[in-house]
Amino acid sequence: MELNLAIVKKDPRINSFIDQTAIYLRALGYTDHGRRHLDIVSDRARMIARKIGLSEADQETAAISGWCHDMGNFLGRTQHHYWAAMLFSHCYINEAKNPANVSKIMQAIVSHDKDDLKIVDNITACLIIADKSDVHRSRVLNKNLKEIKEDIHDRVNYSVTDNKLSIDKQKKTITLSLKLDTNFTDIMDYFAIFVERMNYCQKATNFLKYDFNLKINDTKLA
Ligand SMILES: [Fe+2]
Ligand SMILES: [Fe+2]
Repeated sequence: MELNLAIVKKDPRINSFIDQTAIYLRALGYTDHGRRHLDIVSDRARMIARKIGLSEADQETAAISGWCHDMGNFLGRTQHHYWAAMLFSHCYINEAKNPANVSKIMQAIVSHDKDDLKIVDNITACLIIADKSDVHRSRVLNKNLKEIKEDIHDRVNYSVTDNKLSIDKQKKTITLSLKLDTNFTDIMDYFAIFVERMNYCQKATNFLKYDFNLKINDTKLA
């Protein structure tokens, strides 16, 4: 079987992992790690891969990595990247026409998070930028404004009302532009929790031999 995103999205096994992860993380009070996040990360990973000139096959691989990267959360948050990679292999290593594709996707998934964030190929770099740049009001699942204000992750995500990622192949820049509602949070809150993620974006962008720019409310910060 030739793996592609359409097949993976229709696979009931993958859908069951994604559903169970959404239930698990919602119960723990996390921001969205379900289909909204996965669609954004998958689309962005493909878009970055296309704009920097990776092959069609690598674009598809990046998109699949984006769709599956968080599906291991229901087996444990701390090691969710390992679980997702192992689940992916369990589903496709025997079915895939090209097992090397499965290994590439496993590598990107396992490398997308904290301690194991090692960038060894372009697909992993595309996935990391796509994942770590997803901050937006629509990611907050809690609907209670008072509770949102009390939780720094919810508060910062909620304060981001617009999020754009653009790639300039000529200037070799990848720019994340955010609109931040400063009535809801201040910029220091943003940095308190996102400095690490922005560092990851920078590291991944540099791996691709691009520079990473961060713009908040039209002011260039990095
Ligand atoms: Fe993750
Ligand atoms: Fe994620």
